[in-house]
Amino acid sequence: MGTYIVVTSGKGGTGKTTCTAALASGLAILGHRTLCVDCDVGLRNLDMVLGLTEASVWDFSDILSGERELLETAEPHPEIEGLFFLQAPAVSGPEQVAPGAFMDLKEQMRQEFDYVLIDSPAGLGAGFRLASEGADLGIIVTTPELTSLRDGQRTAAELAALGVSETRLIVNRVCPRALRASRMDIDQAIDLVGARLLGVVSEDESIPQAVNLERPLMAFGAKYAYGQFMDMVRRLTGEQVPLPKRLRAD
Ligand SMILES: Nc1ncnc2c1ncn2[C@@H]1O[C@H](COP(=O)(O)OP(=O)(O)OP(=O)(O)O)[C@@H](O)[C@H]1O
Ligand SMILES: [Mg+2]
Repeated sequence: MGTYIVVTSGKGGTGKTTCTAALASGLAILGHRTLCVDCDVGLRNLDMVLGLTEASVWDFSDILSGERELLETAEPHPEIEGLFFLQAPAVSGPEQVAPGAFMDLKEQMRQEFDYVLIDSPAGLGAGFRLASEGADLGIIVTTPELTSLRDGQRTAAELAALGVSETRLIVNRVCPRALRASRMDIDQAIDLVGARLLGVVSEDESIPQAVNLERPLMAFGAKYAYGQFMDMVRRLTGEQVPLPKRLRAD
């Protein structure tokens, strides 16, 4: 039975889609059969971040309607072996997706893949609930600003209310100089959100560059982020990889 992981944050633009794509790619690179699902119904963009410019016309609503099977709809990634992608519907909103039917689909995904990573939309509304319900693990993505960390705390509480008791934190877009100025360190960030740290991602210009060149980040060779994401993937699979001690690394 596979592990179902939701990547989320209440606040928009913290890096959920970037982290979903990178972690799913990393899991596949390590040999795990991984499904990456866009749950940002109506505002989907995970396909672009994965470098899938010729994405399939099918999406998960075609499976929910009974028209298609999961395995014929999940698209194998042309460059990253073992990585599959399932598109979100473009037109409807999350309210139009029946939660019961989506829960059944999640069970099926768990049976067919080692890991299922779902990219949740911004906000803590219907789309968040659709993506998060029944997850084995919730990954909360924040940036190192106080407002984002506080939002992460709220997200952790909402996940707990949905029964997702296992949570991890990713602090994204860390720029050591800015952190020194703000006097924030890693323990404060973890305490604020109340979730164990999965890892830290540097501010890395190769992340938007890869998207603009329509290349998947983990095949593009992101400068700092590649190794940071691979460390997180190893932690997710149970390896003991030491965590960075302080966000304020010099
Ligand atoms: N570590 C990073 N370094 C530099 N740029 C980054 C980093 N992480 C994300 N970005 C950029 O920040 C922007 C937002 O990232 P992303 O789309 O992953 O966020 P999101 O949380 O999914 O947004 P939304 O809430 O709108 O779905 C993108 O342009 C992305 O390339
Ligand atoms: Mg997104």
